[in-house]
Amino acid sequence: MIEYRPLKIALLGAGVVGSQVAKLLLENKEELAARVGAELELIGVLVRDKNAARLSNIPSELITTEADALILGADIVIEVMGGIEPARTYILQALNSGSDVITANKALLATNGVELFDTAEQVGAQLYFEAAVAGAIPIIRPLRESLAGDKIKRIMGIVNGSTNYILDRMDSTGCTLESAIAEATKLGYLEADPTLDLEGFDAAQKAAILASLAFHTEVPLEKVYREGITKVTSEQMAAAKRDGYVIKLLAICEKIDATETEEEGISVRVYPAMVPLEHPLASVRGAFNAVFVEAEAAGSLMFYGSGAGGLQTASAVMGDLVSAAKRHVAGGPGLADSVHADLEVLPISRIKTRYQITLEVTDAPGVLATVANAFAKHDVSIETVEQSAKMIEAESTAWLEIGTHEATDKDLAAVVEELRNSSAVEQITSVIRVEGV
Ligand SMILES: NC(=O)c1ccc[n+]([C@@H]2O[C@H](COP(=O)([O-])OP(=O)(O)OC[C@H]3O[C@@H](n4cnc5c(N)ncnc54)[C@H](OP(=O)(O)O)[C@@H]3O)[C@@H](O)[C@H]2O)c1
Repeated sequence: MIEYRPLKIALLGAGVVGSQVAKLLLENKEELAARVGAELELIGVLVRDKNAARLSNIPSELITTEADALILGADIVIEVMGGIEPARTYILQALNSGSDVITANKALLATNGVELFDTAEQVGAQLYFEAAVAGAIPIIRPLRESLAGDKIKRIMGIVNGSTNYILDRMDSTGCTLESAIAEATKLGYLEADPTLDLEGFDAAQKAAILASLAFHTEVPLEKVYREGITKVTSEQMAAAKRDGYVIKLLAICEKIDATETEEEGISVRVYPAMVPLEHPLASVRGAFNAVFVEAEAAGSLMFYGSGAGGLQTASAVMGDLVSAAKRHVAGGPGLADSVHADLEVLPISRIKTRYQITLEVTDAPGVLATVANAFAKHDVSIETVEQSAKMIEAESTAWLEIGTHEATDKDLAAVVEELRNSSAVEQITSVIRVEGV
């Protein structure tokens, strides 16, 4: 029996995600009311152009361009417009008027998250954002609630579906980066500005959000180290496959322990890396997303599913809406995220990873020793050396594939510089990190 007054819901945006949210809200009205204990009344849908074609049949009387009246009349505001402004202003307006807000806007959270969360805390409102990272996959709530009593050690995520699709096509068909990008473009997988996906900006925004939740620390976007996939070659992909790996664009959030000379901190980074085929993330194919979490007590967990799509993302928005609505009905404070740990976000130069380096060298006595010396000089320990007969291109040239133990980015860069200047080395054809070993 529903006794609570109807809750007024304002929807800002009726595009790919918003139109599906409207559809679910209108079609599942009775069931949602039964779950929440109050009717969820969609009071209006904000758009730029009232006459634009919509993906779902939102009643025309709900469509509006009057933001102020819509926001101020709502109990809960759902922002699925995207962009920084006016989304930021509207969310602040909603929070300041006491409304809870649900957003799918990773770009806004990654750039202005602190301001929005501080405002929410000051006014006692809630800001929900499950849909902002990895679309339909529940990962924000597990980090905020289910794992809140545990300690997260590391998160490795495939959080950008379009780049995963591109790398997967290169891996499975042997095609070039350019033709895989062309395929992804044709399928509409890339953002309007493809550099957001290809250069890792989108993944970096999601990494900043995940790391701030996992490590209770403010993570400014500019402190997220970022490399995209635009330098990944089909040769690297083939070599990785031969060695039992696949190349994935990873968003990594990691707690770094203190050393004798340096304080503890966190590392937040995005780059393509070789992942062993037996690692769960290696099996994430096509445009799917997955987030692999390592926690002190829980051990390893993987969250897998659709990272985008209107209906899929709308599912995450609806989950937040039910939570927000239930809180209204039940009363009491909601979730509050804390940045009490205030850990330093460490520069990439301090981060240790394994590397795979492929070199074209002169096939002459003493060359291997020269190469090995370059690694030893900068304290980078070699784990494997391979000189495949198949890879010898000319009689005087050989190819070396060198796998290292963990080394800092700084030391590895020094080795690469040394090799580049060595007369024994004709060319460095690939330097790539190895993760998940
Ligand atoms: N698409 C996905 O798969 C996906 C997945 C995860 C997260 N997200 C996030 O969800 C949000 C929405 O994405 P989307 O793909 O649904 O975007 P979209 O298709 O471009 O839709 C944007 C909607 O917002 C409206 N809008 C934009 N600026 C406005 C303004 N200044 N005033 C009033 N209305 C405005 C647009 O109005 P008109 O209809 O009049 O143009 C449109 O209805 C973004 O933050 C995105 O990052 C999307």
